[in-house]
This record gives sequence, C-alpha cells and structure tokens, in this order.
Amino acid sequence: MTNFWSICNIFLLCCLVQACHSHSCPGLECWYMNEKAAGGLAAPPSQVKSLLRIKTKGHRTASLEDLTDPSILRVYTVADPEATLCHRSRRSSTRKPHCELSRFQPQYSALSWASSLSDELSPIYLQADWFSATVQDLDERRGTASIMRAPTETNELDVVLSVTTTTVVQSRLGEPVLLQCQFWANPASPLSGSGFAVEWRYQSHGSGRLLLAYDGKSDRVFDSPEEGMKMDFEELHRNGNASLVLQEAQVHHSGMYICMVYLPHLLAQVTIHLEVAEPPSLSIHPSPLPLTAPGQSLTVHCEASGFTPHSLELSWDLKDPDGKTRSLGPGHLTGHKQAWDGTYSQGTRLELNTSDPELGRGGELTCVAKHPGGTRRASVALRVIGFSTPSLEDSMMMLAVALVLYGLIKFVSWLFLPSGPAEAVETEKKEN
Ligand SMILES: *[C@@H]1O[C@H](CO)[C@@H](O)[C@H](O)[C@H]1NC(C)=O
Ligand SMILES: *[C@@H]1O[C@H](CO)[C@@H](O)[C@H](O)[C@H]1NC(C)=O
Repeated sequence: MTNFWSICNIFLLCCLVQACHSHSCPGLECWYMNEKAAGGLAAPPSQVKSLLRIKTKGHRTASLEDLTDPSILRVYTVADPEATLCHRSRRSSTRKPHCELSRFQPQYSALSWASSLSDELSPIYLQADWFSATVQDLDERRGTASIMRAPTETNELDVVLSVTTTTVVQSRLGEPVLLQCQFWANPASPLSGSGFAVEWRYQSHGSGRLLLAYDGKSDRVFDSPEEGMKMDFEELHRNGNASLVLQEAQVHHSGMYICMVYLPHLLAQVTIHLEVAEPPSLSIHPSPLPLTAPGQSLTVHCEASGFTPHSLELSWDLKDPDGKTRSLGPGHLTGHKQAWDGTYSQGTRLELNTSDPELGRGGELTCVAKHPGGTRRASVALRVIGFSTPSLEDSMMMLAVALVLYGLIKFVSWLFLPSGPAEAVETEKKEN
C-alpha cells in the first residue's frame, strides 16, 4: 500500500515539474510584414514567417524543436521579463494566436497629452532597430501590442512597452462595462520612468472621437472625459492599469475602443470590440386568446421590443395536446422600429384557421425570438370549442365541482328549508 502511495507521489511530483516546465513560454509564430516596397515583380514577398523565441524572467526559451518548420525564415530572441507576449493557456489552445511583426519608427508625439514626454531625449538609445508586434489570441480573446528594441543588425529583441487587453467584450444594456487595458514599461529602459500618457478613442462606422486623454507625467486629464466613463488614476500609476469603465452600457456604446499608451517616442495600442446585446421582451396579443369555434380564423400578434443589435429571428411553434411541437413558420413580419434609446422592436402576425386538422385540437402557441443576446419565448393557450375535448383532469375537476355544489345545495336546504315553512304555518295559526 505504502509503495502504491509513494508511486502516486512520484507521479504527482512529475506532473508538477511538467506543469512548471510548460510555464516557459512556447515559441510564437509571427508574420514579419515587410514595408510596402515599391518594386514591381522583383519586390520581396510582403510577409515572412518568423519565430519569436521568448525569454521570460527565470525561464529558458522553449526548446529548438520549434525550428524544424522549414517555412520559418527568421528567428528572433525576445527578452520579455514579465511574459507579456506569453499567453498562459496557449499550449492548450486549439488555434494558434495571430501575430504580426513590423518595423517601428520612434517619433516625437506632438499631441498635447504626450508632448511633455519627450523632454529627455536619448538619441543613442533610439538608434537601434525597433519593432512592433501585435498578438491576437482568438481563444482567450486577448490582444497584446509590444514595442521592442534590438541593437542594430541583431535579432536580439527587448520588450520595452507592452499593452494587453481583452479583445471582445459583451454586455447587456445598463450594466457597467470594464474595457481592459494593462501596460508594462520595461524599467530597464531609459524611456520608462520619464512619464507616460494614455489615450482612449472610440471608433464606429468610420467616425472616431477622443474619449479620454491623460498625461501621466504632469497628472493632467485633457478635455473632459465622456460622461459616464471613468479611469482609476491611482491604479494606473500603481499597476499600469489603464482600464476604462463605462458605468452603464447603452446601445450607442457598441463599437471599437482603442487604448493607446505613450512612452517618450513610443506608442503601443490595442483595440477592443464592445458588443452591447440585449435580447427582446415578448408580448402576445390578444392574451389570453379568445375561445375559438372550429373553422373560425384567429389572428395572433407577437411583439418583440427593447432589443439590440437588430438581428432577430421570430417564429411560431404549436405544442398540441399530446405534447408534440411543430413549427408554424415566421408569420407575417413587420419592419424594425427604433425606440428613443436605440433599441429595436419588431412584430409578427399569425393567422390561424382552426379548421386545419392540425390546429383543430388547440394546444400551446409559442412565439420564439432568436437573438444574439439569447432566445426568448412567450406562450398562450389556443382553445378550440368542442374539438379540444376536455382532458381527463378537466372531467374529474368538473365532476368534483358538481359533487361539491350538490352537497352545498343539500346542506343549505337542510339548514333553512325545514324551519321556513313551519314558521310560516305558525304565524298563519296566530293570525287565525
Ligand atoms: C483595473 O482597474 C479596474 C478599475 O478601474 C478594475 O476593475 C480592474 O479589476 C483592474 N484590473 C486589474 C487586472 O487589476
Ligand atoms: C379555413 O380552412 C378551410 C378548409 O381548409 C376553408 O374551407 C376555409 O375557407 C378557411 N377559412 C378561412 C377564414 O380562411
């Protein structure tokens, strides 16, 4: 028995060691994007498959087995102490993250919230090869943008600035929304420690606007941030947490958000797609449905309201008394209408002809609304006179009611009737 347990322990230990090993960051395949070379047919391919071998603090790079892929034409070693490019569950992910690498040109930013950053120039430090990498992890919905520096003509990159976010955020109407933006500036770089700036922008249907701009060096917020949007400046300075909080999600908040982080001469930005999705509320008219005579036709309306976005699929189902459900189709759909708050409404009208043998027995009529925010249902009972023969429960109930009524009448007549006529007789006698 003890042997068995010690074997188990050894096994467990191996598992733990294995787990520790898998913490080292796997190689990251990345498309190196060549600048558009003006050069006709002789131009080099615009993308070159490359590999980033990431060195995190205290861990070795992944083994060189990644290099067996002959399509990889370039290999870079990336020093990334805080593992910002290294997404934890990547090993178990089914899809590889999408990564793009391109050259980056450090520049002075003339924007008012970033202009104070470029006082202390470090020209020698800037004279190097600079790269920008964007990594999109589709499984984790995580996105990272990094600015990296390599001494000229080497493939040894150092992460100088990284910004990480959740790339897709969904919210119901009226809920608070956290738009994450976390940055890390390499303390070993002379560019960190001389201030940063953060800018949030919103973009939708080709138009954009500034939501918030903050100069971290002089602790100044530029313009007034949009109504209902907040940033925790203490968190920002302490942890590089530049997340933006929308206090109440509204229809018009759907769209693309861009978090831009500036260091002197550098800029890294990530985008977040916010989807505000609210499923419809349903109502059926008339409700309850009038009792219908066989052969009579009946019109039923279903109104879906208060939903966003506007894609909606309405349909009708009927569950017959045997519990079998069948579809009655979408009915006659009305066009979308938009309410003052931007939410939509849409209706459907269903004409029922109860001489249809399939409908003649009645049942439960359901309006079904399929929406990205969820599926909603509303039901009414469809009752057809005669054809909907009373169920066994109904018959028992009727019998029970009849018996109780009979008993009541009997009781009441026993209480009052015998004394009634007798009194009348007595009074008659007195009169006589
Ligand atoms: C960042 O700050 C926001 C509040 O502004 C907070 O809700 C969030 O949890 C913070 N994120 C991290 C990773 O600490
Ligand atoms: C209902 O259906 C029956 C038989 O299918 C048809 O004779 C009748 O005209 C229909 N009634 C209406 C109102 O459409």
